[in-house]
Amino acid sequence: MSQPSPLDRHSVRQHVRHLRRALTSEQQEQAADRLAEHAVNFAPLASAEHVALFLSVDGELNTRPLIARLWQQKKQLYLPVLHPFASGHLLFLRFTPDTPLALNKLRIPEPPLDIRQMITLDRLDVMMVPLVAFDATGQRLGMGGGFYDRTLQNWRQHGFLPVGLAHDCQQVDRLPAAEWDVPLPAVLTPSRLWQWE
Ligand SMILES: Nc1ncnc2c1ncn2[C@@H]1O[C@H](COP(=O)(O)OP(=O)(O)O)[C@@H](O)[C@H]1O
Ligand SMILES: [Mg+2]
Repeated sequence: MSQPSPLDRHSVRQHVRHLRRALTSEQQEQAADRLAEHAVNFAPLASAEHVALFLSVDGELNTRPLIARLWQQKKQLYLPVLHPFASGHLLFLRFTPDTPLALNKLRIPEPPLDIRQMITLDRLDVMMVPLVAFDATGQRLGMGGGFYDRTLQNWRQHGFLPVGLAHDCQQVDRLPAAEWDVPLPAVLTPSRLWQWE
């Protein structure tokens, strides 16, 4: 596979992040509610017991309405935490309504690193994955840290289903893919479910 030029990736990131941040608060609210409504009917999520999610930043689709519904359904939820010494890697920690959150060095709220609250990837059923852009083949572009490419490297062996979460405006025709990019098998947007396998 030829290496995509970094400029392509950079300009797609800038363009889509701009679109996302331009959504009004009313559009954001409606998008998050619609997504939560149909996400809970998505079979793999409906039957899941252990679900990893993320807290939204930078105009990302707000995951809070979905989180509230999943808690109501008594599902066990987990959030990513920056690995304390394996740079670029994530750990997943239990998230309950009582979990205190603190900003990490990327200014994203995360639970305290208490090893007793950690889940291994083998025990997860579904992982909701943030993204900046996705294309019609399931290729994913993130914020540029490669965190989820590392986390998703062996997702089939771990046995959980990665599901991208995005606004409809985050879809692009074709993304440049690097050899380390892990494509998604599913993406949920407020208007539809995309599935590739
Ligand atoms: N599995 C991996 N192992 C080691 N480094 C990786 C891996 N996946 C991604 N990276 C590194 O992370 C960096 C960012 O990846 P990129 O795909 O551009 O970010 P994102 O997926 O967040 O858009 C790249 O420079 C790449 O070298
Ligand atoms: Mg990538």
